[in-house]
Amino acid sequence: MSGNTIGRLFTVTTFGESHGPAMGCIVDGCPPGLALSEADVQQDVDRRRTGTSHFVSQRREADQVRILSGVFEDEETRGPVTTMLEQVIREARTEVIYACAPVTVLRDVCLLAARYEIPVQACVDVPMACGTGVCMGCVLPVTGTDGITRIVRACVDGPVFRGDLVRWDDIGTIPFDALGAPGWNPSRDGAPESRYAG
Ligand code: FES
Repeated sequence: MSGNTIGRLFTVTTFGESHGPAMGCIVDGCPPGLALSEADVQQDVDRRRTGTSHFVSQRREADQVRILSGVFEDEETRGPVTTMLEQVIREARTEVIYACAPVTVLRDVCLLAARYEIPVQACVDVPMACGTGVCMGCVLPVTGTDGITRIVRACVDGPVFRGDLVRWDDIGTIPFDALGAPGWNPSRDGAPESRYAG
């Protein structure tokens, strides 16, 4: 599946469009303490500044770099460097977010979106070995609108899910209260308790 993320341990995910309110990126995997400032990035952005020659766009754009999180006093703090997303949410009066990214990034996007009560359609970027629903290598726990958590396959049941129904923190595990797991009790209220159910 194609996507807008490159890297594994050091991951860069881009988003936005040149005609939109902003373009941004999320960088995961920076070691803490790394010196990083907006000026470091700005000098590279300036190299492609619009209107400087016949070979680039003639649009007038500020192309001003802003780092919104993950950096304190010009040093990397270890958190994901999430640039621009919150600004885009506010300035574009966002009503819904369509996101495609690794699950760690999607989790952060959904947390941010929840603060603004914005629904997220999350396209999970997970390894899909067979792509046909056979190998079970792409599973993740998702709570249905009936309140029951099921282990679903991203390749055939997704890969797009409602962000608020994915149990991001339980990915890689089978939650105790998932359908068929030891903690699931079908006779109890017809459905298990789920802290993620809406
Ligand atoms: S990739 Fe094999 S089951 Fe989804």
